[in-house]
Amino acid sequence: MAYRWTNDLTHADVTPKAAFLNRRQIIAGTLGLGAIAAGLPAAAQEALVPNSLEDITSYNNYYEFGTGKSDPAQNAHQLEISPWSVKVSGMVDNPGEYSLEDLLDGLTVEERIYRFRCVEAWSMVVPWNGIELADILNKVGVQSGAKYVAFETVVQPENMIGVQRRVLQFPYVEGLRLDEAMHPLTIMATGIYGEPISKQNGAPMRLVVPWKYGFKSIKSIVRITLTDDEPPISWNVANPREYGFYSNVNPKVDHPRWSQATERKIGGGLFAKREPTLMLNGYADEVAGLYSDMPLNEYF
Ligand code: MTE
Repeated sequence: MAYRWTNDLTHADVTPKAAFLNRRQIIAGTLGLGAIAAGLPAAAQEALVPNSLEDITSYNNYYEFGTGKSDPAQNAHQLEISPWSVKVSGMVDNPGEYSLEDLLDGLTVEERIYRFRCVEAWSMVVPWNGIELADILNKVGVQSGAKYVAFETVVQPENMIGVQRRVLQFPYVEGLRLDEAMHPLTIMATGIYGEPISKQNGAPMRLVVPWKYGFKSIKSIVRITLTDDEPPISWNVANPREYGFYSNVNPKVDHPRWSQATERKIGGGLFAKREPTLMLNGYADEVAGLYSDMPLNEYF
Protein backbone atom coordinates (compact mmCIF):
# COMPACT_ATOMS: atom_id res chain seq x y z
CA MET A 1 0.00 0.00 0.00
CA ALA A 2 1.40 3.36 -1.00
CA TYR A 3 0.20 5.19 2.09
CA ARG A 4 -0.71 4.47 5.64
CA TRP A 5 -2.08 6.68 8.38
CA THR A 6 0.80 7.64 10.59
CA ASN A 7 1.01 8.24 14.32
CA ASP A 8 4.18 10.26 14.49
CA LEU A 9 2.32 13.47 15.32
CA THR A 10 0.87 14.46 18.68
CA HIS A 11 -2.38 16.00 19.80
CA ALA A 12 -0.80 19.44 19.51
CA ASP A 13 -0.22 18.91 15.81
CA VAL A 14 -3.88 18.42 15.01
CA THR A 15 -5.30 21.25 12.96
CA PRO A 16 -8.51 22.71 14.41
CA LYS A 17 -11.46 21.16 12.64
CA ALA A 18 -12.78 24.29 10.93
CA ALA A 19 -9.42 25.29 9.51
CA PHE A 20 -8.81 21.74 8.62
CA LEU A 21 -11.99 21.43 6.60
CA ASN A 22 -11.11 24.63 4.78
CA ARG A 23 -7.80 23.14 3.90
CA ARG A 24 -9.69 20.24 2.44
CA GLN A 25 -7.96 17.49 4.26
CA ILE A 26 -8.81 14.42 6.21
CA ILE A 27 -8.52 14.05 9.97
CA ALA A 28 -7.54 10.97 11.88
CA GLY A 29 -7.92 10.83 15.62
CA THR A 30 -8.52 8.57 18.57
CA LEU A 31 -11.91 9.11 20.11
CA GLY A 32 -11.87 10.59 23.58
CA LEU A 33 -8.13 10.44 24.03
CA GLY A 34 -7.20 13.27 21.75
CA ALA A 35 -6.01 12.64 18.28
CA ILE A 36 -3.37 11.43 15.97
CA ALA A 37 -3.03 13.48 12.82
CA ALA A 38 -2.99 11.78 9.51
CA GLY A 39 -0.74 11.09 6.60
CA LEU A 40 -3.11 11.97 3.84
CA PRO A 41 -4.15 9.76 0.94
CA ALA A 42 -4.14 11.69 -2.30
CA ALA A 43 -7.87 11.56 -2.86
CA ALA A 44 -8.52 12.99 0.56
CA GLN A 45 -6.58 16.12 -0.21
CA GLU A 46 -9.09 17.27 -2.78
CA ALA A 47 -11.98 19.60 -2.17
CA LEU A 48 -14.13 17.94 0.46
CA VAL A 49 -16.68 20.15 2.14
CA PRO A 50 -18.91 18.01 4.36
CA ASN A 51 -22.66 18.18 4.22
CA SER A 52 -24.50 19.55 7.23
CA LEU A 53 -25.44 17.13 9.97
CA GLU A 54 -29.05 17.77 9.04
CA ASP A 55 -28.49 16.75 5.42
CA ILE A 56 -26.83 13.56 6.53
CA THR A 57 -29.43 12.59 9.13
CA SER A 58 -32.63 13.55 7.31
CA TYR A 59 -32.11 12.16 3.81
CA ASN A 60 -31.50 8.45 4.18
CA ASN A 61 -32.04 5.01 2.79
CA TYR A 62 -32.82 2.47 5.49
CA TYR A 63 -35.57 0.28 4.08
CA GLU A 64 -36.21 -1.49 7.38
CA PHE A 65 -37.75 1.86 8.40
CA GLY A 66 -39.58 2.58 5.15
CA THR A 67 -38.73 3.41 1.56
CA GLY A 68 -39.04 7.22 1.68
CA LYS A 69 -35.95 9.37 2.22
CA SER A 70 -37.39 10.91 5.38
CA ASP A 71 -38.88 7.66 6.75
CA PRO A 72 -35.68 6.60 8.57
CA ALA A 73 -35.41 9.95 10.36
CA GLN A 74 -39.02 9.55 11.45
CA ASN A 75 -39.02 5.88 12.40
CA ALA A 76 -35.50 4.83 13.34
CA HIS A 77 -35.80 6.07 16.91
CA GLN A 78 -37.52 2.72 17.48
CA LEU A 79 -34.32 0.82 16.83
CA GLU A 80 -32.99 -0.73 20.04
CA ILE A 81 -29.21 -0.49 20.14
CA SER A 82 -28.33 -1.19 23.72
CA PRO A 83 -27.13 -3.77 24.46
CA TRP A 84 -25.68 -4.65 21.04
CA SER A 85 -23.79 -7.75 20.09
CA VAL A 86 -22.13 -8.91 16.90
CA LYS A 87 -21.84 -12.56 15.96
CA VAL A 88 -18.51 -13.36 14.29
CA SER A 89 -18.54 -16.68 12.48
CA GLY A 90 -17.07 -18.75 9.66
CA MET A 91 -13.37 -18.91 8.84
CA VAL A 92 -12.02 -17.03 11.87
CA ASP A 93 -9.75 -18.03 14.74
CA ASN A 94 -11.93 -16.42 17.42
CA PRO A 95 -15.59 -16.89 16.50
CA GLY A 96 -18.29 -15.92 18.95
CA GLU A 97 -20.90 -13.44 20.01
CA TYR A 98 -19.07 -10.24 20.99
CA SER A 99 -20.56 -7.29 22.78
CA LEU A 100 -19.90 -4.20 20.64
CA GLU A 101 -17.64 -2.87 23.39
CA ASP A 102 -15.53 -6.04 23.43
CA LEU A 103 -15.32 -6.21 19.65
CA LEU A 104 -14.01 -2.65 19.37
CA ASP A 105 -12.04 -2.53 22.61
CA GLY A 106 -8.47 -1.32 22.09
CA LEU A 107 -9.02 -0.33 18.45
CA THR A 108 -8.44 3.20 17.17
CA VAL A 109 -11.36 5.37 16.07
CA GLU A 110 -10.41 7.87 13.38
CA GLU A 111 -12.28 10.62 11.62
CA ARG A 112 -12.52 10.09 7.86
CA ILE A 113 -14.10 12.62 5.54
CA TYR A 114 -15.32 10.65 2.56
CA ARG A 115 -17.36 11.20 -0.56
CA PHE A 116 -20.57 9.17 -0.42
CA ARG A 117 -22.21 8.34 -3.77
CA CYS A 118 -25.56 6.59 -3.90
CA VAL A 119 -26.45 4.39 -6.86
CA GLU A 120 -29.45 6.71 -7.30
CA ALA A 121 -26.96 9.39 -8.42
CA TRP A 122 -27.02 11.68 -5.40
CA SER A 123 -23.98 12.32 -3.26
CA MET A 124 -22.77 13.84 -0.01
CA VAL A 125 -19.49 14.37 1.80
CA VAL A 126 -19.61 12.82 5.23
CA PRO A 127 -17.24 13.15 8.20
CA TRP A 128 -17.40 9.66 9.69
CA ASN A 129 -15.78 8.40 12.85
CA GLY A 130 -14.81 4.81 12.52
CA ILE A 131 -12.42 1.93 12.87
CA GLU A 132 -10.60 0.28 10.02
CA LEU A 133 -12.43 -2.95 9.27
CA ALA A 134 -9.00 -4.61 8.89
CA ASP A 135 -8.32 -3.92 12.59
CA ILE A 136 -11.51 -5.74 13.56
CA LEU A 137 -10.79 -8.63 11.20
CA ASN A 138 -7.24 -8.94 12.46
CA LYS A 139 -8.53 -9.00 16.02
CA VAL A 140 -10.84 -11.95 15.36
CA GLY A 141 -8.21 -13.66 13.19
CA VAL A 142 -8.99 -14.39 9.55
CA GLN A 143 -8.11 -17.95 8.57
CA SER A 144 -6.28 -18.73 5.37
CA GLY A 145 -8.74 -19.78 2.72
CA ALA A 146 -11.24 -17.04 3.61
CA LYS A 147 -12.00 -14.98 0.50
CA TYR A 148 -15.07 -12.89 1.39
CA VAL A 149 -16.65 -11.11 4.32
CA ALA A 150 -20.44 -11.24 4.70
CA PHE A 151 -22.44 -8.78 6.82
CA GLU A 152 -25.97 -8.82 8.19
CA THR A 153 -28.23 -6.07 9.60
CA VAL A 154 -30.32 -6.54 12.72
CA VAL A 155 -33.99 -7.44 12.28
CA GLN A 156 -36.37 -6.07 14.92
CA PRO A 157 -39.75 -6.69 13.28
CA GLU A 158 -41.73 -5.02 16.02
CA ASN A 159 -39.69 -1.83 15.62
CA MET A 160 -39.24 -1.84 11.84
CA ILE A 161 -42.17 -0.89 9.69
CA GLY A 162 -40.35 -1.78 6.47
CA VAL A 163 -39.74 -5.30 7.78
CA GLN A 164 -43.41 -5.63 8.66
CA ARG A 165 -44.30 -4.55 5.10
CA ARG A 166 -41.64 -6.83 3.55
CA VAL A 167 -40.35 -4.09 1.26
CA LEU A 168 -37.17 -6.17 0.75
CA GLN A 169 -36.03 -9.60 1.87
CA PHE A 170 -34.66 -9.17 5.39
CA PRO A 171 -32.19 -9.38 7.03
CA TYR A 172 -30.40 -6.89 4.78
CA VAL A 173 -27.13 -8.58 3.75
CA GLU A 174 -23.94 -7.35 2.11
CA GLY A 175 -20.48 -8.61 1.30
CA LEU A 176 -16.97 -7.64 0.27
CA ARG A 177 -14.05 -9.50 -1.19
CA LEU A 178 -11.45 -10.01 1.57
CA ASP A 179 -8.92 -7.64 -0.04
CA GLU A 180 -11.59 -4.92 -0.27
CA ALA A 181 -12.50 -5.51 3.36
CA MET A 182 -8.86 -5.29 4.46
CA HIS A 183 -8.19 -2.07 2.53
CA PRO A 184 -7.34 0.82 4.90
CA LEU A 185 -10.04 3.05 3.38
CA THR A 186 -12.74 0.56 4.46
CA ILE A 187 -14.14 1.44 7.87
CA MET A 188 -16.82 0.47 10.33
CA ALA A 189 -18.39 3.78 11.24
CA THR A 190 -19.56 4.38 14.79
CA GLY A 191 -19.87 8.16 14.59
CA ILE A 192 -20.69 11.14 12.40
CA TYR A 193 -19.43 14.68 12.98
CA GLY A 194 -17.73 13.50 16.15
CA GLU A 195 -21.02 12.30 17.64
CA PRO A 196 -22.27 8.73 17.99
CA ILE A 197 -23.82 7.70 14.69
CA SER A 198 -27.56 8.36 14.49
CA LYS A 199 -29.97 5.45 14.27
CA GLN A 200 -31.15 6.42 10.79
CA ASN A 201 -27.52 6.33 9.64
CA GLY A 202 -27.00 2.82 10.97
CA ALA A 203 -26.24 2.94 14.69
CA PRO A 204 -24.38 1.54 16.42
CA MET A 205 -22.02 0.37 13.65
CA ARG A 206 -22.27 0.47 9.85
CA LEU A 207 -19.90 -0.28 7.02
CA VAL A 208 -18.40 2.51 4.84
CA VAL A 209 -16.58 1.65 1.60
CA PRO A 210 -16.02 5.04 -0.02
CA TRP A 211 -15.28 3.86 -3.57
CA LYS A 212 -18.48 1.80 -3.82
CA TYR A 213 -22.11 2.82 -4.24
CA GLY A 214 -23.79 3.67 -0.95
CA PHE A 215 -25.91 0.55 -0.78
CA LYS A 216 -22.79 -1.48 0.03
CA SER A 217 -22.57 0.42 3.33
CA ILE A 218 -24.80 -1.88 5.33
CA LYS A 219 -26.22 -0.46 8.55
CA SER A 220 -26.68 -1.68 12.14
CA ILE A 221 -24.51 -4.76 11.72
CA VAL A 222 -25.10 -7.81 13.94
CA ARG A 223 -23.21 -10.49 12.05
CA ILE A 224 -19.83 -10.77 10.30
CA THR A 225 -18.97 -14.04 8.57
CA LEU A 226 -15.73 -15.03 6.84
CA THR A 227 -16.34 -17.36 3.93
CA ASP A 228 -14.75 -18.74 0.79
CA ASP A 229 -17.92 -18.24 -1.25
CA GLU A 230 -19.23 -14.95 -2.69
CA PRO A 231 -22.06 -14.05 -0.28
CA PRO A 232 -25.52 -12.88 -1.41
CA ILE A 233 -26.21 -9.12 -1.24
CA SER A 234 -29.66 -7.65 -0.74
CA TRP A 235 -29.95 -5.46 -3.83
CA ASN A 236 -28.65 -8.16 -6.12
CA VAL A 237 -31.15 -10.61 -4.66
CA ALA A 238 -33.94 -8.04 -5.12
CA ASN A 239 -32.94 -7.05 -8.65
CA PRO A 240 -30.02 -8.98 -10.20
CA ARG A 241 -30.37 -7.17 -13.53
CA GLU A 242 -29.63 -3.80 -11.94
CA TYR A 243 -27.28 -4.42 -9.00
CA GLY A 244 -24.10 -6.45 -8.86
CA PHE A 245 -21.76 -7.69 -6.15
CA TYR A 246 -18.95 -5.21 -6.84
CA SER A 247 -20.91 -2.02 -7.39
CA ASN A 248 -17.83 0.14 -7.62
CA VAL A 249 -18.63 3.74 -8.52
CA ASN A 250 -17.97 3.93 -12.24
CA PRO A 251 -19.18 6.87 -14.34
CA LYS A 252 -18.66 4.78 -17.48
CA VAL A 253 -21.09 2.04 -16.55
CA ASP A 254 -24.69 3.23 -16.58
CA HIS A 255 -27.41 1.83 -14.44
CA PRO A 256 -29.90 0.11 -16.80
CA ARG A 257 -32.38 2.94 -16.11
CA TRP A 258 -30.17 6.02 -15.77
CA SER A 259 -26.72 7.42 -16.36
CA GLN A 260 -24.07 7.23 -13.66
CA ALA A 261 -21.89 9.88 -15.34
CA THR A 262 -23.01 12.73 -13.07
CA GLU A 263 -24.38 13.22 -9.58
CA ARG A 264 -26.54 15.64 -7.64
CA LYS A 265 -24.94 16.97 -4.47
CA ILE A 266 -27.35 16.94 -1.54
CA GLY A 267 -27.33 20.32 0.19
CA GLY A 268 -26.10 22.06 -2.93
CA GLY A 269 -29.29 24.09 -3.28
CA LEU A 270 -32.16 23.92 -5.71
CA PHE A 271 -30.24 25.12 -8.75
CA ALA A 272 -26.98 23.32 -8.14
CA LYS A 273 -25.70 21.87 -11.32
CA ARG A 274 -24.93 18.16 -11.53
CA GLU A 275 -21.28 17.31 -11.13
CA PRO A 276 -19.27 14.65 -12.91
CA THR A 277 -18.93 11.39 -11.02
CA LEU A 278 -15.33 10.35 -10.46
CA MET A 279 -13.95 6.92 -11.28
CA LEU A 280 -14.08 4.81 -8.12
CA ASN A 281 -15.65 7.88 -6.50
CA GLY A 282 -12.30 9.69 -6.51
CA TYR A 283 -10.36 6.91 -4.79
CA ALA A 284 -8.90 5.31 -7.93
CA ASP A 285 -5.29 6.01 -6.89
CA GLU A 286 -5.83 3.98 -3.77
CA VAL A 287 -8.02 1.12 -4.97
CA ALA A 288 -7.86 0.68 -8.75
CA GLY A 289 -5.16 -1.94 -8.19
CA LEU A 290 -7.72 -4.21 -6.52
CA TYR A 291 -9.46 -4.54 -9.89
CA SER A 292 -6.56 -4.66 -12.32
CA ASP A 293 -7.67 -8.05 -13.62
CA MET A 294 -11.28 -6.96 -14.15
CA PRO A 295 -12.44 -5.10 -17.23
CA LEU A 296 -13.96 -1.70 -16.43
CA ASN A 297 -17.43 -2.75 -17.47
CA GLU A 298 -17.43 -5.43 -14.79
CA TYR A 299 -16.97 -2.96 -12.01
CA PHE A 300 -20.67 -3.13 -11.41
N1 MTE B 1 -28.49 -0.85 5.21
C1 MTE B 1 -29.66 -1.43 5.58
N2 MTE B 1 -29.66 -2.32 6.59
N3 MTE B 1 -30.85 -1.16 4.96
C2 MTE B 1 -30.90 -0.28 3.90
O1 MTE B 1 -32.00 -0.06 3.34
N4 MTE B 1 -29.65 1.21 2.41
C3 MTE B 1 -28.36 1.37 1.74
C4 MTE B 1 -27.22 1.58 2.72
N5 MTE B 1 -27.30 0.65 3.82
C5 MTE B 1 -29.69 0.34 3.48
C6 MTE B 1 -28.49 0.04 4.18
C7 MTE B 1 -28.39 2.46 0.77
S1 MTE B 1 -29.29 2.19 -0.66
C8 MTE B 1 -27.69 3.62 0.95
S2 MTE B 1 -27.56 4.79 -0.29
C9 MTE B 1 -27.05 3.92 2.23
O2 MTE B 1 -27.29 2.91 3.22
C10 MTE B 1 -27.57 5.23 2.76
O3 MTE B 1 -26.84 5.62 3.89
P1 MTE B 1 -27.22 6.96 4.65
O4 MTE B 1 -28.69 6.88 4.97
O5 MTE B 1 -26.38 6.96 5.87
O6 MTE B 1 -26.91 8.10 3.72
